[in-house]
Order: sequence, then C-alpha cells, then structure tokens
Amino acid sequence: MHELTHTIAETRRAVAAARAAGKVVGLVPTMGALHAGHAALIRRAAAECGFVVVSIFVNPTQFGPHEDFARYPRTLPEDRALCEREGANLIFAPDVAEMYPPGHRTSVSVRELGDYLCGASRPGHFSGVATIVLKLLNVVQPDRAYFGQKDAQQARIVRQLVRDLDVPTTIVVVPTVREEDGLAMSSRNRYLAPDERRRATVLIDALREVRRRVAEGERDAAALRQVLADRVAATPGATLDYGEIVDADSFQPVERLTGPAVAALAVRFGPTRLIDNLELDY
Ligand code: PAJ
Repeated sequence: MHELTHTIAETRRAVAAARAAGKVVGLVPTMGALHAGHAALIRRAAAECGFVVVSIFVNPTQFGPHEDFARYPRTLPEDRALCEREGANLIFAPDVAEMYPPGHRTSVSVRELGDYLCGASRPGHFSGVATIVLKLLNVVQPDRAYFGQKDAQQARIVRQLVRDLDVPTTIVVVPTVREEDGLAMSSRNRYLAPDERRRATVLIDALREVRRRVAEGERDAAALRQVLADRVAATPGATLDYGEIVDADSFQPVERLTGPAVAALAVRFGPTRLIDNLELDY
C-alpha cells in the first residue's frame, strides 16, 4: 500500500526512511490525470528502484494566463489506484501554497533549448517546468527520475538542468506510449470531442510521413515541414501551432538533415492543444 503525503517535510521523512533501509529512490514527476503513458514511467521506475515516489502537482507556473490551468483534470482517487497497480510507494501531492509559499522569488531560466517549439508558443513555460522539476528533485533527492519522450523538449531541458546545476540524479527517458491508432497518450486527450479524437491521429500520421520521406532520402527540412503543415491543413478542425524539424541535441531548427533530428508538432483542436514528436534517425 502506498503512502500519500501533502507536505515537503512529510515527504522528506518518508524518503529518508526508505534511504536508511538501503533503497534506491526513483521519482516520477506528473501533473496527475494519469494514463498508460504515466503508468509506463512508474512501471519502469518500480523495476529499477526499491522506492518509487510519484509527484502529482498541477504546476501553475508552467501555464500561460490563457491556458488550461483551471480546467486541467484533477483525478486523485483514480490516480492513486493507478499508482498502486504500478508499484509506487509514495504519492506526493502538495497544494500550490506548499510549493510556492507567498513571497517566493526564485526561478530557473533556460537558454536556447527553450527558444523554439513549445518554448516559442508558450512563453515562460519551460522556466516554470525547470523550476518545479528542480524543486521536486530537491525535495525527494532521487537517485533516478523518469520523463517521457512524448515531451522531448522537456526531457532535453531536464537533462541540461541536472548537468548545469549539479543535481546528482540520473535522468531516464521512456518511449512514448500510444493509443492503438497511434495517438500519443495525453491527459488532454479527454478534452477532445469524438470527431476531434478521430482526427487527432493527424499528428502521428504526419510525423510518420516525415519519417517515410526521410527514409526515401529527403534531407531538406523545408520540404519536411511542408509535409507536417499540409497534413494538418487537410484535417478539418485542426490548426497547426508549429511543425518543425530540429536538431536532436540543440533543439534549434535545421535547414538540412545532417545528423540526429526530431520532427515535432503542436496542433490545436478548438482550445485543446496536442503535441507529438518522432526521432529521425537515418
Ligand atoms: P505530465 O504531462 O503529467 O507528464 C508527466 C510525465 O509523463 C512527463 O515526463 C511526460 O513526458 C510523461 N508522459 C506523458 N504522456 C506520455 C506518453 N504518452 N508516453 C510516455 N510518457 C508520457 O510533463 C509534465 O506532466 C510536467 O511538465 C512535469 C514534468 C510534471 C512538471 O510539472
């Protein structure tokens, strides 16, 4: 049976006890509304760590003023059941005042890696992510922390964060978990109306077409970006937020493919914004 904590002090105490018992500590940071993608992270953590902490915190500092912070799904009872099934030992579910008490002043800023893709369309987002992830790493001080490839730019930024700020945690990135039709699992999929849900496969279909074109020899990024744009434009109700080909290390757009790259896109269906990406190895 897992333990549930709401404060930093209780969490530190529980982790200290696990550590004193010689356990390897793993952390899976989440915003809740857990699904099979999160489950894969927790399962991986449970396979590699004797004590698995799942944090559930809808972090206000990573949402823009007109984004879905207020309506983001909050489903703690269901989340607890999923954590229990997947072998989590502790759920840390703080409230906003616990993580950001009145008068907090400090945040983490991320240079270059956050200039494009989600960083460009969500100003301040990655500073909010980097700040909360560093705080969670400081609270739990895990040996290993688990992130999804679904949010490739976030995972890249977290790797940089631990390197630059000397955090002694190994970052593990887990492959994207998809629905049967290829749609990446996301807490935001539940916002989609049935016809939007059917059409949401446009993200993975467009990315797979890019991968095919690369396999056939295409190296011009503008041509590949056009594939993403055309696919989305041909889908009723879908609008392209961005469709980009970026270098897998710098996350800056490339003109030609010369090394490992990532194709990434964000698409809106009404107020709902979905993202996906595929690595381009060739
Ligand atoms: P959230 O969107 O809840 O995602 C938590 C973790 O689950 C992230 O590392 C994300 O990449 C991973 N994940 C989500 N969907 C996935 C899927 N389909 N397959 C594999 N992994 C998936 O990302 C966040 O929360 C927040 O930004 C957070 C890191 C918790 C900071 O607030």
